[in-house]
Amino acid sequence: MAVEAGRDIAPATGKLGVMLVGLGAVSTTFIAGVETVRRGRGLAIGSLSQMGTIRLGKRTEKRSPKIREFVPLADLKDLVFTAWDPIPDDAYTAAVKAGVLDRHEHLEPIKDFLQGIKPLPAAFDQYYVKRLQGTNVKRGKTKRELAEQLREDIRSFRKTAGVSRVVIVWCASTEVFITPGPAHQSLAVFEKAMEQNDPAIAPSMLYAYAALMENVPFANGAPNLTVDVPALERLAEERRLPIGGKDFKTGQTMMKTVLAPAFKARMLGLAGWYSTNILGNRDGEVLDDPESFKTKEESKLGVLEYILQPDQYPELYGNVFHKVRINYYPPRGDNKEGWDNIDIFGWLGYPMQIKVDFLCRDSILAAPIVLDLALFFDLAQRARLSGIQEWLSFYFKSPQTAPGLYPEHDLFIQQTKLKNTLRWLMGEDQITHLGIEYYEKA
Ligand SMILES: NC(=O)c1ccc[n+]([C@@H]2O[C@H](COP(=O)([O-])OP(=O)(O)OC[C@H]3O[C@@H](n4cnc5c(N)ncnc54)[C@H](O)[C@@H]3O)[C@@H](O)[C@H]2O)c1
Repeated sequence: MAVEAGRDIAPATGKLGVMLVGLGAVSTTFIAGVETVRRGRGLAIGSLSQMGTIRLGKRTEKRSPKIREFVPLADLKDLVFTAWDPIPDDAYTAAVKAGVLDRHEHLEPIKDFLQGIKPLPAAFDQYYVKRLQGTNVKRGKTKRELAEQLREDIRSFRKTAGVSRVVIVWCASTEVFITPGPAHQSLAVFEKAMEQNDPAIAPSMLYAYAALMENVPFANGAPNLTVDVPALERLAEERRLPIGGKDFKTGQTMMKTVLAPAFKARMLGLAGWYSTNILGNRDGEVLDDPESFKTKEESKLGVLEYILQPDQYPELYGNVFHKVRINYYPPRGDNKEGWDNIDIFGWLGYPMQIKVDFLCRDSILAAPIVLDLALFFDLAQRARLSGIQEWLSFYFKSPQTAPGLYPEHDLFIQQTKLKNTLRWLMGEDQITHLGIEYYEKA
């Protein structure tokens, strides 16, 4: 039974333009996957928006519609894609080079479609991604000029593709580590810093700024600071636009945010967690640079601290040795291997070990996340949700939150929050899992 009216949500009429920053392994796997699903030749496995259901009301009501039938999401057939990349390869060539999807089974049948997606010149600067060189880049005297060119790209995509709404997802390389500074504090100083080519303004921030100025939601799939600065957060709130990040939560960190809450739930101690990765794709090559790795490391390290709360449980988690390594190893390509050695302890302090060896495919795990973020950010905009979308933390390693709030990393709390937000949007009861009414019938 509905308890409140829910939100007014504008219908998903017309086409939804998905503009991707970066046309590498993740972006091409996402685009090719959506087209394959649209042609009835595959399933959107890993996508909560496409495969998931949501329970409504009491367990006895047996109401569990598909999420995409419950909330008014854009239909896959209405998605139109474009991307920016400093490497001029079209989506077909980029997908073949990325080597994620099977060329004969999944790329050849949609070759014409993929070849039609050619990257727009990027706002790119090698200072921020040391291991890349690009020729397909924008020229401008100042960063502000580059941002204006990105705005023009958005406007002309709206017209030429005939889309009624646009979302932007950052699927580009991880930039060097930057901390929030004076240039990020207000819109006025941010704009001035762009004009003065201040190094504190990374290319990713130009895309985020351009998006918000053109009334487009922006999601950040990499760990770069990007939209996680006061100037852009305020801009998003003022213009009533959804933003969020950072860093898609795919393989190793997803496992970490499942296992760590289990140890804590059972009050088992943790002495150390050693995580290492070998991967050989371009992302791995970029992350081989210590400055880009630092950005990723911060994002991967944060989760345990917040989940385990060492301040509250000093005997259990006060002395955890946590290490994360990423090693570039070309023979593996996109097929990463993530090893975890976990030293836990139980009753009276007796030690035990757990080993996780996840032979995952990075972009196969990331593609459905890009899809869900594009659809949910579009929904959020139509529901007039503005600023940081914490309910979409489920998808991020290092979720943005309101100032002063610590991020929630536990995957299942994040999932509950996401589903309860959908219930709230549609005027359905929240599910609390109390369930006392099934027993105390009087
Ligand atoms: N695959 C995963 O599981 C996963 C998980 C979390 C985060 N990520 C992040 O997603 C991003 C994409 O990963 P990928 O495997 O597709 O990498 P990739 O190297 O295959 O693709 C990234 C693309 O971004 C382009 N690029 C770099 N700077 C750019 C700029 N300023 N503007 C436009 N394009 C730019 C590069 O030329 C490249 O083609 C990376 O930052 C990665 O760390 C991936």
